[in-house]
Amino acid sequence: MIKTFSTTVLALTLGAGINLAHAQAGNADAGEKKAAQCIGCHGIPGYQSSFPEVHKVPMISGQNAAYIVASLNAYKKGDRKHPTMRGIAGSLSDQDMADLGAFYEQQGAQVAVKAVAAREPSPQAAALLAKGGCASCHGADYNKPIDPSYPKIAGQHADYLYVALKAYQIESNPQVGRSNAIMGGIAKQFTHAELKALAQHLGSQPGSLATVPQSRWR
Ligand code: HEC
Ligand code: HEC
Repeated sequence: MIKTFSTTVLALTLGAGINLAHAQAGNADAGEKKAAQCIGCHGIPGYQSSFPEVHKVPMISGQNAAYIVASLNAYKKGDRKHPTMRGIAGSLSDQDMADLGAFYEQQGAQVAVKAVAAREPSPQAAALLAKGGCASCHGADYNKPIDPSYPKIAGQHADYLYVALKAYQIESNPQVGRSNAIMGGIAKQFTHAELKALAQHLGSQPGSLATVPQSRWR
């Protein structure tokens, strides 16, 4: 009896310790409720934003949870200047971000992603991908990043990828730009025309990102 009891106490204590160590572990069910404030943009297939130019809102279902959290933190801290997402991320706690990341990562695993055949890059795109070493971080097929805090980019909307890549070249504009040590150094090696060619190739590839309309939930 006593032995069983103390084993239970030990297990509970260890469990509590683990919970503390991972205080920011995301809860997808909690995230689903919090995502009510996101679906007006991220839950409408093909939804366009007109800032800083017309482009589709990024697909986030199926994105890595750790990257979703990292990007939300970048908006909150102001490393990413996009005013709307800054406002939204600024109202989220660490726990909210973790829950939203868990929800969106899991949601992507539940939907069938539109199948497209992998395409060989054009010789120009192949040379640009090699120059930037893109696969060394974004991983095989640009869909298996080497670190979960790095994004999947294969199959993401090409017009969004282009806007995102250009943003890494901009640092001192209060409304537009992303200061990121890694991607800044990479994006600045390319012209806009080259970034567009990269975005068009990556956006045409098969991936696992999706926009899941609210009517398809549950
Ligand atoms: C008013 C429309 C709108 C709403 C509402 C909105 N977003 Fe966004 N979101 C955007 C746009 C536009 C971008 C692209 C911003 C940029 O260019 O950096 C974006 C970017 C993001 C990104 C970065 C994606 C990437 O690939 O880097 C994440 C993550 C994200 N939003 C999550 C959320 C979450 C979570 C919510 C709800 C709490 C939310 N958004 C609400 C429009 C919106
Ligand atoms: C050394 C690692 C590394 C290399 C090499 C690299 N990336 Fe990235 N990339 C990252 C990281 C980390 C981020 C997230 C940065 C942030 O938080 O904004 C990122 C973000 C991006 C984004 C934004 C995605 C989104 O959803 O907003 C695009 C687009 C992108 N990279 C494309 C490329 C392309 C194209 C190349 C090659 C020309 C490349 N990357 C090379 C690490 C890398």
